[in-house]
Amino acid sequence: MTETKKSATLSLDGKTYELPIFSPTAGPDVLDIRKLYAQAGVFTYDPGFTSTASCDSTITYIDGNEGILLHRGYPIDQLASKSHYLEVCYLLLYGELPTATQLEDFETRVTRHTMVHEQMHNFFRGFRRDAHPMATLVGVVGAMSAFYHDSTDISDPWQREVAAIRLIAKLPTIAAMAYKYSIGQPFVYPRNDLDYAANFLHMCFSVPAEDYNVNPILSRAMDRIFTLHADHEQNASTSTVRLASSSGANPFACIAAGIACLWGPAHGGANQACLEMLKEIGSVDRIPEFIARAKDKNDPFRLMGFGHRVYKNTDPRAKVLKQSADEVLELLGVEDNPLLQVAKELERTALNDPYFIEKKLFPNVDFYSGIILEAMGFPTSMFTPIFALSRTVGWISQWKEMIADPQNKIGRPRQLYLGETARDYVDIEKR
Ligand code: SDX
Repeated sequence: MTETKKSATLSLDGKTYELPIFSPTAGPDVLDIRKLYAQAGVFTYDPGFTSTASCDSTITYIDGNEGILLHRGYPIDQLASKSHYLEVCYLLLYGELPTATQLEDFETRVTRHTMVHEQMHNFFRGFRRDAHPMATLVGVVGAMSAFYHDSTDISDPWQREVAAIRLIAKLPTIAAMAYKYSIGQPFVYPRNDLDYAANFLHMCFSVPAEDYNVNPILSRAMDRIFTLHADHEQNASTSTVRLASSSGANPFACIAAGIACLWGPAHGGANQACLEMLKEIGSVDRIPEFIARAKDKNDPFRLMGFGHRVYKNTDPRAKVLKQSADEVLELLGVEDNPLLQVAKELERTALNDPYFIEKKLFPNVDFYSGIILEAMGFPTSMFTPIFALSRTVGWISQWKEMIADPQNKIGRPRQLYLGETARDYVDIEKR
């Protein structure tokens, strides 16, 4: 970052404090408040971090007003149409698009790490069959630190690299195993002759009793969904991974923490919640009832898949997913899928409603992804695990960037304390 000659002046209790200003290559300037408490004895207050830059990064840039999403400078719509997930993984991890040789080497390394330690199969057996696959994912990914001790020393760049490859390679296998376990079918081993997305579909949908040929259109749509979810600046789960990593925790534990945070319906769990909402709405004529509920301050109901903390006019990922939804459902011969009709009418109604216009609420990445995933045959419980496996590369890229940052220190926010001041203990007979 470039320190500008500019600074902000804070006047407090008759004193003035100069806050240095740093300028980014894109986006807002930042006020450096790192010395504020030491100099002025005050904290800044920003629950939800609506105005706080928690770090500097070179990985992903978002412009919420313009609906721009860049990965290492490349627009998401170009990556979604011209690239593929493992190439985007390389870009996020190493900062540049790979040469053909670099890409082949990277894809080979990932492919050869897709199997999990055989003893992890037993680990699954401890879960109830009806456990949510996200519960299984959090547990099994956290347990990876019990199986891959040789890539847990974060001070060793080589072990960091191995952990990154292992996580990117094994998350689809673990997610597919969680799905198979939940439906009582046998685990399917990864196959090195299939590409990343086709391998995942094969591990999810093939059974030993017959051959399963992956439809190339569906694996292309799957790959595009992975790409669109790969990274997204300092969102809640990425910030969770960074905060967990700041204590020096091993990468598997940190990614498990990110998976746990992503699960929430306000974040990655919104794709499951959105599809369940569309099913609850059921038909176009019930949309006004739900729009009214979403606007009712006394009703906790929100339109799942709508709104975003950063995007204030369009989520560029939703535009690509909407197009992909049309393609996939047409291919599957379900273009008149009632859920898609409800989704399109709900989007049209909301985007023309003054409440949503005023509050800048519109479909986000989670609005159309669920429709595609359901059409592909996934149960709603697998939507967030698919988001998690896609986002693993973003989490691990941000983790690598942070670990390598010489300024890296443990994250330790303060608070505005509103509790009791000091008081003496009262014996129970006097209470
Ligand atoms: C993801 O951060 C990321 O980058 C996340 C993500 C990623 O790739 O990592 O993009 C993935 O998490 C996408 C978001 C998925 N979540 C949902 O679709 C759940 C529904 N959306 C909301 O819960 C909400 O919009 C959030 C959580 C996404 C954003 O919340 P903010 O920025 O904290 O906004 P807010 O809750 O303060 O809402 C502002 C106003 C409120 O009204 P007022 O109190 O000002 O009157 O808008 C209203 C809210 O009530 N509002 C909604 C709404 N979202 C916000 N009203 C109805 N339906 C909604 N969906």
